[in-house]
Amino acid sequence: MYSSFSLLSLASLALASPSLVSVSSEVGDVIRRALPDSPSGGYAPAEVKCPSTRPTVRSAKNVSQQESDWLRTRRGNTVQPMIDFLRGANIPGFDAQTYINNHRQNLTELPNVGIALSGGGYRALMNGAGFVAAADSRVAGSTDQHGIGGLLQSATYLAGLSGGGWLVGSIYANNFSTVPQLRDGSAGSDLWQFSRSILKGPKENGISILNTASYWDDVHDAVDAKRDAGYEASITDYWGRTLSYQLINAKDGGPSYTFSSISRSPGFNDGNQPLPILVADGRLPNEKVVALNSTVYEFNPWEMGSFDPSVFGFVPLQYLGSNFSAGSIPDNERCMSGFDQYGYVMGTSSSLFNQIALRNISSEKVPSFVTNAIEGLIERIGQANDDIAVYHPNPFYRYNTKTNPSAEETTLTLVDGGEDLQNMPLHPLIQPERGLDVIFAVDSSADTDNNFPNGTALRATYDRTAEPISNGTRFPVVPDAETFINKGLNQRPTFFGCDPKNYTTGGRANGPLPPLIVYVPLMAYTAWGNVSTFTMSYSDADRNAIIQNGFNVATMGNGTTGDMSTQWRTCIGCAVLQRSMLKTNTTIPAACQECFQSHCWDGTTDSRPIAGGYQPNAVIGIQETSAGVSSRAGDFNKVLGLVSAVVASGLVLVI
Ligand SMILES: *[C@@H]1O[C@H](CO)[C@@H](O)[C@H](O)[C@H]1NC(C)=O
Ligand SMILES: *[C@@H]1O[C@H](CO)[C@@H](O)[C@H](O)[C@H]1NC(C)=O
Ligand SMILES: *[C@@H]1O[C@H](CO)[C@@H](O)[C@H](O)[C@H]1NC(C)=O
Ligand SMILES: *[C@@H]1O[C@H](CO)[C@@H](O)[C@H](O)[C@H]1NC(C)=O
Ligand SMILES: *[C@@H]1O[C@H](CO)[C@@H](O)[C@H](O)[C@H]1NC(C)=O
Ligand SMILES: *[C@@H]1O[C@H](CO)[C@@H](O)[C@H](O)[C@H]1NC(C)=O
Ligand SMILES: *[C@@H]1O[C@H](CO)[C@@H](O)[C@H](O)[C@H]1NC(C)=O
Ligand SMILES: *[C@@H]1O[C@H](CO)[C@@H](O)[C@H](O)[C@H]1NC(C)=O
Ligand SMILES: *[C@@H]1O[C@H](CO)[C@@H](O)[C@H](O)[C@H]1NC(C)=O
Ligand SMILES: *[C@@H]1O[C@H](CO)[C@@H](O)[C@H](O)[C@H]1NC(C)=O
Ligand SMILES: *[C@@H]1O[C@H](CO)[C@@H](O)[C@H](O)[C@H]1NC(C)=O
Ligand SMILES: *[C@@H]1O[C@H](CO)[C@@H](O)[C@H](O)[C@H]1NC(C)=O
Repeated sequence: MYSSFSLLSLASLALASPSLVSVSSEVGDVIRRALPDSPSGGYAPAEVKCPSTRPTVRSAKNVSQQESDWLRTRRGNTVQPMIDFLRGANIPGFDAQTYINNHRQNLTELPNVGIALSGGGYRALMNGAGFVAAADSRVAGSTDQHGIGGLLQSATYLAGLSGGGWLVGSIYANNFSTVPQLRDGSAGSDLWQFSRSILKGPKENGISILNTASYWDDVHDAVDAKRDAGYEASITDYWGRTLSYQLINAKDGGPSYTFSSISRSPGFNDGNQPLPILVADGRLPNEKVVALNSTVYEFNPWEMGSFDPSVFGFVPLQYLGSNFSAGSIPDNERCMSGFDQYGYVMGTSSSLFNQIALRNISSEKVPSFVTNAIEGLIERIGQANDDIAVYHPNPFYRYNTKTNPSAEETTLTLVDGGEDLQNMPLHPLIQPERGLDVIFAVDSSADTDNNFPNGTALRATYDRTAEPISNGTRFPVVPDAETFINKGLNQRPTFFGCDPKNYTTGGRANGPLPPLIVYVPLMAYTAWGNVSTFTMSYSDADRNAIIQNGFNVATMGNGTTGDMSTQWRTCIGCAVLQRSMLKTNTTIPAACQECFQSHCWDGTTDSRPIAGGYQPNAVIGIQETSAGVSSRAGDFNKVLGLVSAVVASGLVLVI
């Protein structure tokens, strides 16, 4: 969420170092994953032979055949990790292995898990990375007593939006490497090297870059090549290109990588990884504000499109850039591929960063041929449109003409997925066709003055269910921001939708029960992860500390902080199982009832104004840092509590 956009606060950062016990790396470098399959061999789309059945736009009334086929494999592959994960959750009086085995013949009875990573620039990337690391059983320490490792291996979907989309994108562009592998990169690579802003480009010892000018040369040439192929360029092209150098571990940030190539990569295809989804919003030409009832689009490895009743269609992602008309490519039109360039898709979901990057373009020695090109673009589209990603030709041209607001436009204009305030990619995961049971919603939105979330993103998705465009999707009741703060709903993980009888009804009152939401808000445990959305560079120490903080958010400090935190792993297990138990008419174990008692929002509100603003303390304690920035001490009592816990567990922490 970039709600404080107008306030442009470039406050200097108060950050912290990694703790002594840090998310540790596996042996071996991150893999350079080859997915460079654009037919042009570069950034530009190019013509391909049309398949014998010409590509068409399909109706959104169900998931694609590919997804449905893939799900059978993936759901099957989650069974064993889920048994392992749930056994680790140690729910007293509950035999996870027997339960899962008893129901494995019917996949709809087994938990269907999704993870949603919010937007919020690098803050969201790093905090989300901490969560993903904690959920990933491959990461050292993640399956310790209070860890949540294995949740990722049990998940069906992994959705990202804007900064969360950079994380998801980077993971899949690099062969589903772990977060520590991505963080530590590989020799000579610029992967996750956030210490130099993307306006400067990689250091001289990067894979191929010599200096800022030649970096921009390459970026400029790539975008020009797309133009020369007959396509319109937008600022998002420049933005997506620069971003890729940090997120895709390939020469020049992998100009020929496509998002659809994920569907052809073995690890994904074999159902050994969750399904990645990125989200963007539709914006009508000349519309300035993205309303809550704007069409929400998703990119998945096979398709791009929307479940919303406005567009209600999906186009095969690989053939984006072809002249679709009324849902098909006319016989006299060519089939094009490569438009779904990987960085362009990530850039689309995060297009608001166009504006952030543009603010500083003059101060960063960006060569004049680039600033001139960008200024030329802004002159054409107008300042107010500098956050758009141009999809020309519009794949939904003359498709669903009665309801599609862009049906007569030759250009489809997409913007940052958070611009409608739904800063978490929940939309794809609450579609009844996908039948999710639980969504882990990691919120790194900067809602408050000091860049913490206050539930706005969650509430936006709830509010949208009252709009006709929600087409009957249902969502739990979400209270106001004051209640979030006054009742601490943003100061510990909180469950929404525990009561299966209390849902917005929409048009599908009798439809499947919508997923339980496990809301995981960004908090400061061991580092001030609440860094400004406008900060575009981070020292390695700060980056690592913020990722580490995200790990601690995800595990409630490894069960060291606050009520019920020692049972956190158990409670996550209960959250994963709740819908399944309802479906199978299984008695909810007492330990789970205790979890729900403690973590579910109880439905009461407290809407009094926040006296003195929201100034949360660090839950554990901010550590002095090698980078020289430090911090306020945490709440003294909590610190003392931790010191004893830490001493007891034999760890040493510097507070
Ligand atoms: C989607 O619906 C159509 C028509 O009802 C059906 O033919 C098709 O098999 C369905 N696809 C999937 C993947 O369920
Ligand atoms: C929690 O455990 C992880 C993994 O061992 C470790 O990196 C992290 O520092 C621990 N956090 C705390 C607060 O002790
Ligand atoms: C990707 O990762 C898998 C699993 O770790 C490994 O087996 C495979 O060789 C890797 N692929 C490439 C291209 O490096
Ligand atoms: C969105 O809401 C506005 C204002 O309420 C309304 O004019 C517009 O028609 C709505 N659009 C859609 C797609 O529902
Ligand atoms: C959702 O929208 C589509 C397209 O308008 C419509 O065909 C379908 O019936 C709607 N579904 C529900 C449950 O309202
Ligand atoms: C699509 O149609 C337009 C207008 O006829 C044309 O200029 C353009 O070259 C076509 N694009 C492709 C990829 O064939
Ligand atoms: C909550 O966040 C929204 C922005 O997302 C902001 O406008 C509002 O003032 C915040 N309210 C509180 C109480 O923090
Ligand atoms: C982070 O939160 C702390 C505590 O509220 C605050 O003092 C600090 O200014 C915040 N940092 C940023 C960059 O907003
Ligand atoms: C813009 O430049 C200033 C000074 O170089 C720097 O402090 C600030 O962080 C930069 N902002 C962005 C968005 O890069
Ligand atoms: C699978 O489980 C669901 C939910 O309990 C149930 O509605 C459905 O009938 C079951 N399917 C089969 C084939 O048993
Ligand atoms: C669910 O279980 C309870 C207690 O075992 C039983 O009384 C009830 O009939 C069951 N309901 C269904 C729908 O199977
Ligand atoms: C549903 O939950 C909301 C918020 O907790 C509450 O205000 C409302 O009374 C509940 N409705 C029912 C029918 O339980």
